[in-house]
Amino acid sequence: MKTPFGLTLLSASAVIHASAWKDQCAGFKMQSVDNLQNVTTSYYSAGTLVNLTSLYTPLSTSSLPAFCRVQFNVVTNPATGKTAQAELWLPDGWNQRIIGYGNGGWSGGLPYSAMGPDGVAQGYASYGTDTGHQSSSRNGSWGLGNDDAIIDHAYRALHLTTVASKALTMEYYGNSGVIKSYYSGCSTGGRQGLKAMTMFPEDYDGVVIGSPANSFGRLMPWELHQSLVMQPVNSTRWIPPTTWTAIHEEVLKQCDGVDGVVDGILSDPEACNFVPESMTCKQGNNGTNCLTLDQLETFRKLYTTYVDSEQNYIFSPYALGGELGYGSGLSTATPFPIAEDYYKYFVLNDTKWDWRTIDASTIALGMKVNPGNMDIKWYKDVLAYTAAKSDLDVDNHFKLFTVPGMQHCRVRFALALGSGVDTAHAHRKFCYRADLGHGFLVPMGSVHKHLLYKKGRSMMVCLTSSMKKGYFVERLFRDFQSKLRWSNGLNKDEA
Ligand SMILES: *[C@@H]1O[C@H](CO)[C@@H](O)[C@H](O)[C@H]1NC(C)=O
Ligand SMILES: *[C@@H]1O[C@H](CO)[C@@H](O)[C@H](O)[C@H]1NC(C)=O
Ligand SMILES: *[C@@H]1O[C@H](CO)[C@@H](O)[C@H](O)[C@H]1NC(C)=O
Ligand SMILES: *[C@@H]1O[C@H](CO)[C@@H](O)[C@H](O)[C@H]1NC(C)=O
Ligand SMILES: *[C@@H]1O[C@H](CO)[C@@H](O)[C@H](O)[C@H]1NC(C)=O
Ligand SMILES: *[C@@H]1O[C@H](CO)[C@@H](O)[C@H](O)[C@H]1NC(C)=O
Repeated sequence: MKTPFGLTLLSASAVIHASAWKDQCAGFKMQSVDNLQNVTTSYYSAGTLVNLTSLYTPLSTSSLPAFCRVQFNVVTNPATGKTAQAELWLPDGWNQRIIGYGNGGWSGGLPYSAMGPDGVAQGYASYGTDTGHQSSSRNGSWGLGNDDAIIDHAYRALHLTTVASKALTMEYYGNSGVIKSYYSGCSTGGRQGLKAMTMFPEDYDGVVIGSPANSFGRLMPWELHQSLVMQPVNSTRWIPPTTWTAIHEEVLKQCDGVDGVVDGILSDPEACNFVPESMTCKQGNNGTNCLTLDQLETFRKLYTTYVDSEQNYIFSPYALGGELGYGSGLSTATPFPIAEDYYKYFVLNDTKWDWRTIDASTIALGMKVNPGNMDIKWYKDVLAYTAAKSDLDVDNHFKLFTVPGMQHCRVRFALALGSGVDTAHAHRKFCYRADLGHGFLVPMGSVHKHLLYKKGRSMMVCLTSSMKKGYFVERLFRDFQSKLRWSNGLNKDEA
């Protein structure tokens, strides 16, 4: 029989085998976990249509191998009856590993597009949660007065889903041995991963953390600050999207070759001494390929460390080289909605709040409230850990690598690290598969000895991804291997 892949797969014995899995799925008892409600299972044969809606990442595909879909609600607060929606997908061809996927923004929906094409397709038992509420990633109104949901979103729903999914996976496959447990997430998903490592280090053997949106107390005001600097659109401060492209070209013109390779990528933005004045508009020219004096001032502010009116450090600035993403990312005509909602619905509880009024006291309040205890002090935790182990050679245990050409979770040369959103790009799996032979980013499933964290456990923290089969990564290692940049400089307190 021909499958949609054009392969002859189903011999007589394979048919029996598949039907046995179908029966296993239908009869799955789920006796190993007791805080579940409304459990249902459904079996998807290889190559059948999987067409699922989600407020986070929906999925419509006919390319998955056979799996058992388990849907359940996990009770996150027995006292209030609060639940979170979750799913665990169990492939017939299991690889003895389990992976959880994170969410994005304020979402609010299941990460189907990662669970299917990324997880199940590679043989992982794959799970995710809506983090305890339904919403799009850009809408945080659900947080208003909803502490149970805020705590679920901050860490609780993912942790309880992880514990339940690990037990259910063992039960389903009748496996009593040790399985490897992983996590992958980007943006909010990255923050969820850092939070899990800090609070529940036994949950995972390795984590892929892409562009973590950690420290909302600092990140959110910075995002509004970037808008305040250049809005409104009709002001002379405004830098339109087309001008961002011109700025990027000028950055490359001045600095692309600094790393020794002219390839459209800055390996080290901090090594670029960019002179924006070279783009100053000639008299009478206000075109999009140059910067007026007011726009030059905007540029300088966006690329300068953000301190509040009392000179407290808040956040690091834009990095050179990312210009193609800025005009459609944060530097748009409207304030970034995730940041606006943070103050409206989680910090101030004032639905009428005007984002332009943000000041040092608003920022301080956000840090104090720290909704759901979602932020972690990653750098301080690592510092405390290493300080307590005076015999530890820090450089052998913690490394920071930055990714040339990468923007927030995706874009251009390093795509969708940890998010699995860009299903069109196979190289998103880089962190799982590439064996670079350097001992850092080895494939998932290997034991990672280079990054130790809490209780002496081995952890892989993969903050990087690249696409051209090791080329950029080779360069990356050469440039950054011995530079633990975050241990110096202004942003060390909150890295
Ligand atoms: C479970 O299903 C019942 C009936 O379908 C529904 O009333 C209840 O709200 C559901 N529970 C959860 C936690 O979703
Ligand atoms: C997938 O489901 C949506 C609605 O849930 C429907 O509009 C769409 O036609 C379905 N796609 C396929 C290929 O059946
Ligand atoms: C956010 O979600 C709420 C509740 O579903 C809805 O009423 C509101 O219109 C949404 N806001 C935006 C900007 O979409
Ligand atoms: C910009 O537009 C707003 C209305 O959207 C108007 O009130 C304001 O005067 C305009 N400013 C300039 C400099 O044109
Ligand atoms: C650019 O100049 C033209 C004519 O000199 C003028 O009409 C237009 O408003 C100017 N645009 C900006 C953004 O200053
Ligand atoms: C807003 O509500 C949250 C709980 O949802 C609370 O932690 C916070 O302190 C409140 N903010 C103010 C200004 O009362």
